[in-house]
Amino acid sequence: MERLDKFLCDCGVGTRSQVKAIIKSGAVAVDGVTERDSSRKFDPATQTVTLNAEPLNRRGRVVVMLNKPAGFVTATQDKTDRTVMELLPEQYRHLDLKPVGRLDKATEGLLLFTNDGDLLHRLISPKKEVPKCYYARHEGTATQEDVAAFAEGLTLGDGTKCMPALLKPIGPGESYVTVCEGKYHQVRRMLASRNMPVTYLERQQEGELTLNGLPRGSVRELTEAEVSALLDVGKMTKGTN
Ligand code: URA
Repeated sequence: MERLDKFLCDCGVGTRSQVKAIIKSGAVAVDGVTERDSSRKFDPATQTVTLNAEPLNRRGRVVVMLNKPAGFVTATQDKTDRTVMELLPEQYRHLDLKPVGRLDKATEGLLLFTNDGDLLHRLISPKKEVPKCYYARHEGTATQEDVAAFAEGLTLGDGTKCMPALLKPIGPGESYVTVCEGKYHQVRRMLASRNMPVTYLERQQEGELTLNGLPRGSVRELTEAEVSALLDVGKMTKGTN
């Protein structure tokens, strides 16, 4: 048996207090009978709950992709900065979505959110080796020595050891960097350690998933097939782009 207000929250209808007000207004029915008591328990397996006569279904696993603009911090709340949560459309605000890893405030591009804790940990675990590909503009120009140093596994100034990574020079001051882990400011610190401080950074790809034309600041939900493909990604064997 389950409380009506909790069920409505899980369905993404609203926050606990919003949901209580909606139930009180008489918009919710259990098996066709209006129910105004939020604490009322019902059996989700056998009973049907409706909102304005439309049946409600609990959202299962939800994975959403955002094309993050610069200027937003990856946090669920922050005292001074705007957060990526503010970029989620209303229908995703009450699903308890959490960012999968983090992008710096200045970094743009692909950021996933999910309400599935297991999936979240699998996607950010360096052991699973889901490659993340970044486009970087930086000072200087990457050389074959830099490519070799990335492939070897860099040691940063503070002694932090990085896993082998792929550096793919594009031209003067432009490179792709593919990493399988997400240490603090990792790509910026890796390039800086080779005297190529980053001036612009965009995450373009995670596993096989790309932004594929999603406009900056926009969001789209992933299909189950896209989520499975992400989880199937094996070791990083080749570059992207
Ligand atoms: N590496 C960084 O330095 N910054 C990011 O936002 C992501 C990866």
